Amino acid sequence: MGFKILIGIIIFLVLIQFIQPSHNNGTAEAATDITHTIPVPDTVMTLLKVSCYDCHSNHTEYPWYSKITPVNWWLNNHINEGKRELNFSTFSTGSYKRKDKKMKEISEQLDKHEMPLDSYLWIHTNAKLNDAQRKMIIDWTKTSREKIMQDSLANKRM
Ligand code: HEC
Repeated sequence: MGFKILIGIIIFLVLIQFIQPSHNNGTAEAATDITHTIPVPDTVMTLLKVSCYDCHSNHTEYPWYSKITPVNWWLNNHINEGKRELNFSTFSTGSYKRKDKKMKEISEQLDKHEMPLDSYLWIHTNAKLNDAQRKMIIDWTKTSREKIMQDSLANKRM
């Protein structure tokens, strides 16, 4: 009896592996990405790519275990929600108002240590930001907000 249940569970675990969400494997760098509207120094870009791009761009680097059901669905959910809030691959397309708001949010999230998500850092230990790195990104959001303001004034719209 116990043996049949065990076999049943194993078959179930194998079968659910075939239920895979679609992968976020477009290109992170596109004509609409952030670099086309705001200068991003290499140092900042490196940090964003390692710590944010998996959930906030059109391209996720999937480690092997992220393909296992249900980890894949859990990650997929984070990617969808993350991209809805902020997508560096399409950042250029927003209004000045939205861009400014997103820069402000990035700064706040880093200040409060809310991003990258803790659950992500358990595994992606290299994505953890130290104080100097966090400050580097926060300083960049400030310069970026000035640039967005100047652009919006030059174009006379928000
Ligand atoms: C594991 C996926 C993941 C990673 C990595 C990640 N985020 Fe997020 N992010 C999310 C999700 C999910 C949301 C939406 C839900 C929430 O706010 O918690 C979000 C929301 C946000 C928001 C909007 C918050 C608001 O004010 O509503 C900002 C800004 C943000 N992330 C910035 C970043 C930055 C900057 C990094 C890198 C330093 C980063 N995130 C890394 C998943 C991620």
